[in-house]
Order: sequence, then structure tokens, then C-alpha cells
Amino acid sequence: MRTVKKRRKVSIIGAGNVGATTAQKIVENGLADVVLLDIRDGVAQGKALDILEAGPLLGFDTRIRGTGRYEDIADSSVVVVTAGFSRKPGMSRDDLLTKNGEIIRDVAFNVRKFAPDSIVIAVTNPMDLMAYVLWRVTGFARERVIGMGGALDSSRFAYFLSEETRTSVSNIQSLVMGGHGDQMVPLLDFSTIAGVPVRKMVPADRLAAIVQRTRDGGAEIVHLMKDSSAYFAPAAATYSMIESILHDRHRIIPSSVFLQGEYGIKEAFVGVPVRLGNQGLEEIVELPLSEDESRQLRNSASAISEGIDALKRLFHDFSE
Ligand code: NAI
Ligand code: 2OP
Repeated sequence: MRTVKKRRKVSIIGAGNVGATTAQKIVENGLADVVLLDIRDGVAQGKALDILEAGPLLGFDTRIRGTGRYEDIADSSVVVVTAGFSRKPGMSRDDLLTKNGEIIRDVAFNVRKFAPDSIVIAVTNPMDLMAYVLWRVTGFARERVIGMGGALDSSRFAYFLSEETRTSVSNIQSLVMGGHGDQMVPLLDFSTIAGVPVRKMVPADRLAAIVQRTRDGGAEIVHLMKDSSAYFAPAAATYSMIESILHDRHRIIPSSVFLQGEYGIKEAFVGVPVRLGNQGLEEIVELPLSEDESRQLRNSASAISEGIDALKRLFHDFSE
């Protein structure tokens, strides 16, 4: 009998700015069919229809379906979680902990029930902590719960370096590790311009300013947009992770994963370079960090561990 190969399915929970923009990229690039789910009645359905109506103009045949029902995420290869609140001016990512923690716990129960074989990408902030909630509640292997943060932070860092040196972004390799928050760790020794270490190309004071701008990258956009946080670059970062997974490309993309001793860190989701393929997390790449970089990474991880302790106080055993 002829076997019919179906297109892969990606479900996106939260049809807001990041969710809908990620959905649009997936569908327009023909990467997968998409289910877009939101708690607000009609929003996901409306955005899905709007995206589909561009099909004849852009020539894509991939499908997207808007829904409010978790049954529709069945058989997803990847589930992207963007549901919840975004940061408003003056709010830290951690202020979102309680509000979004409850939402993500509920999302996670549904992912466990309706898409038990999926790979989950956590986007909702505070992302490293929401990745922990998703991992705890779904009970998935750590290879199947991955947080998006490092891809975005590294892209911002690379963009600022390209702007500073008036060099094509295609020549820039950059790496940001640690939590997706104020204590992220942009790594100068592992960032290059056409293969040349950045320290040889950019004066120290300018590099320090670029590192700080990268750390403040999310806040800079909130400050400008006022009632929304960034979503074009976040959607592109999420897309790059999904694409590496679905096409089994084994790209090394800094992402938040549950560390069990790697980099001397245990029991926390922290951003590190990882290889992503169709099993999800394939390998954590351990780099020889300097003493100072290791210290910064440990500090970043300690802040995340404190957040995990706060989550445990809030949700006890994370059961329903
Ligand atoms: P948004 O406000 O545009 O969209 C959020 C959507 O979630 C809304 O449509 C809302 O109705 C929906 N929602 C709320 N509760 C829900 C539930 N229980 N079930 C299903 N849907 C629900 O926000 P935006 O800009 O899309 O950001 C989403 C999240 O992603 C925020 O927490 C934001 O801080 C975070 N974010 C994280 C980034 C990262 O690098 N990890 C980058 C950008 C945003
Ligand atoms: C960002 O970095 C809000 O986490 C989000 O733009």
C-alpha cells in the first residue's frame, strides 16, 4: 500500500504577537502545518484566516488552523508556548513569574494530555522558569523541553556588532549564554567577525557598550513600543529552532535546557549552546570558558535556581 507522507505539524499556544508572527513564518516558508491556539475566542481563528488569505499572493499551500481547543494539537511534532503576559515598561521579566506560572502550568497539563510525543519550545517569560514548569508538569525527557532565549540574545548581539563594524551580519558569529534576563552572559571569546575575535576588531569601551545594549535588548524595545515587547526577532529566533528540529539540521543554537552537571550547574534551565535535531536536544556543547565567564554563568544560574525555589513554593508538587 502507498504510504502518504503528511506534512509535520507545529502547534503554537498563544496567538499574540510572538505566536502569530512565528506561525506566519512557518506557514509562509512551507515548513509545517500550524495549529494556533488562544484562550481569547476568535483571535486565533481570525489570525489563521488572515494568514491563509495571503496564500494565493505568496504561493504557499501549508495550512494553519485557529482554535481554542487543545484536542486540535494532537500529533504535533513541536509545540511552541507563547501564552501569557508580556513585560510592560518598568516590569522585570521576573514580575511575570506568578501570573505566567499559572498559565503555563495549565498549558503544560494540556500538552502532556494532547501532544505527549511533542518537542516543546518555551517562549513565555520568565522563559527559563517557564521552561522548568513545562518540563516538570509534562514529565517529558529533558531532550524534549527547550527554551528560546539565547538565539534571540545572540542575534541581537550579532546585529549590534555588525552595526558597529559596518560588516554584513552574515560575517558575524556571536554567542550569549546564561539566563534570558539581565544576567545573560555575552561571550566575547566565542564571538567573531569573519573569523576574527571581536576584541581584535572593536575597542574595549565600545564592546562594553554593545554587551550592555544586548543585556538591555528586550527593555530597549519595550521602552520604544510601550504597550508591547519585541516579537519580530523573537519569532525569527523561535523559527530557527523549529527549523533545525524539523529538518534535523543539527544546528548549534544557544537555548535553555535542563542542566544536570554540565558547566558545573545542576537542576536548572540555563542557556547554553546545544545541538538541535529531530530528537530535540541532541547534545550540550561544553566550551572552555574563562574564569570570569564561568563566574558570570554561575551567577546567572543562581538567579534562575532562586526562581525555581520560588516556583516550588508557589506550586508545591506542580500537580493539578
Ligand atoms: P501577547 O500579549 O501579544 O500574546 C500573548 C497571548 O497569549 C495573547 O493572545 C493571550 O490571549 C494568550 N493567552 C493568555 N493566556 C492564555 C492561555 N491560558 N491559553 C492560551 N493563550 C493564552 O504577548 P507576546 O508579545 O506574544 O509575548 C508572549 C510571551 O512571550 C510573553 O510572556 C513575552 O514576555 C514572551 N517573550 C519571550 C521572549 C523570549 O526571548 N523568550 C521574546 C519575546 C517575548
Ligand atoms: C525580549 O527579550 C521580552 O524577553 C523578551 O525581547
